[in-house]
Amino acid sequence: MAQKLQAVRGMNDVLPGVAARWRAVEQRLIDGLARYGFEEIRIPIVEPTELYARTLGAGTDIVAKEMYTFPGRGGESLTLRPEGTAGVVRAAIEHGLLHARATRVWYLGPMFRHERPQKGRYRQFHQIGAESFGHAQASTDVEIIALTADLFAALGVQGLRLEINSLGESEARARYRQALVEFLHDHAALLDEDDRRRLEHNPLRVLDTKNPALGAVLGAAPRLDEFADAQCLAHFAAVRAGLDGLGIPYTVNPRLVRGLDYYSRTVFEWVSDALGAQGTVCAGGRYDALISQLGGRPTPAVGFAMGLERLMDLLEAGDLLPEARMQRWHLLRGPGVTDDQAARTARTLRAHGANAAVVVDHGGGSFGKQLDRADRAGADVALLLGPDECAAGTLTVKALRVPGADQLTVPLADAGAAAARLTGLR
Ligand code: HAM
Repeated sequence: MAQKLQAVRGMNDVLPGVAARWRAVEQRLIDGLARYGFEEIRIPIVEPTELYARTLGAGTDIVAKEMYTFPGRGGESLTLRPEGTAGVVRAAIEHGLLHARATRVWYLGPMFRHERPQKGRYRQFHQIGAESFGHAQASTDVEIIALTADLFAALGVQGLRLEINSLGESEARARYRQALVEFLHDHAALLDEDDRRRLEHNPLRVLDTKNPALGAVLGAAPRLDEFADAQCLAHFAAVRAGLDGLGIPYTVNPRLVRGLDYYSRTVFEWVSDALGAQGTVCAGGRYDALISQLGGRPTPAVGFAMGLERLMDLLEAGDLLPEARMQRWHLLRGPGVTDDQAARTARTLRAHGANAAVVVDHGGGSFGKQLDRADRAGADVALLLGPDECAAGTLTVKALRVPGADQLTVPLADAGAAAARLTGLR
């Protein structure tokens, strides 16, 4: 027998039923984004490798070891997108979206990172993200954070922690990096292998260490805000005041540095304690230098992305998954009813107001057999189309999930009302 194939490690199928819940959640998120004036953008999954090498930072884990990079047919280097911001910025520059007006876009789809898979961390995962171009004011940072708070509220999610920090601008960060490196060299004996690698390639990430020995002394390390200029400090103060004004609680985490190099000033993360080690559900920040770095005219920008797998886990843990299923009606045929009659009846129902999936039973056999099949397939309602019903233009409607429910024979046009009466569902 041929060997069965399996999905690639770290890449998951989303099966029927579960996928419907994903879609229902995505729709609520999209509605929430639309309420803030964001419009959809769709960008390729594959981009030139250089796009990520130039934007995410050569020393970041993503660029150093997690990208799915392969040669294109013409020998050029291509990469599966590990995140959405770089591609959206590339598209915005390429299509002149930054000239006409302030632009706000959202995107949704798979991202790829060759990380070690574990719960909440996958090699193909999904993000919904948004980017707002053209505003430098702190009020935009506040608005983006308020938007994410509203998205969580719309789904009923509670108990997330909002952490914020300011990374200042590149010059201050460079001076800070220098001071941090000196501090870390003074504590070299405490560094583990991971810390040492980060120290060499991306020292700020050492602040994120999982090593308790180093963590214990980091309280005494120099702080980024000691190096920030007055403007950045004022900007951050305005962000905090804006959040206070809207009643959005947060904590300032001076060690929040993010895993991508393009940020400046405000960064933020929404973290859950209910998800284990991979608790960050949503993350983002300001990246005012990125657009000019990619050849666009200098344009301030701020955005975020939410991890959908983690969000779905969170909703499941809180019993908050929306009921996504449409009612399912199975059309069963009596003796002598032709394929054509069954198909016509089903098409009429679908076209005229049946707020349900209408599925024709193609298996044949008695009504009893067909009812069994409908039951096993999870149908809510059986529609019996016998010769009498065919002749009269009626259907017999039977609720399958309501013990003791009656059945009703009604004109085709009244099938929806009859199903609602029998099942109590609309
Ligand atoms: P990020 O922090 O790399 O930021 O990813 C955002 C979110 O995607 C994370 O908080 C997490 O929920 C989810 N995520 C990341 N990696 C994985 C993974 N391997 N498995 C499952 N979920 C994951 C960005 O991607 C930025 N582009 C966000 C942004 C947009 N900043 C400004 N605009």
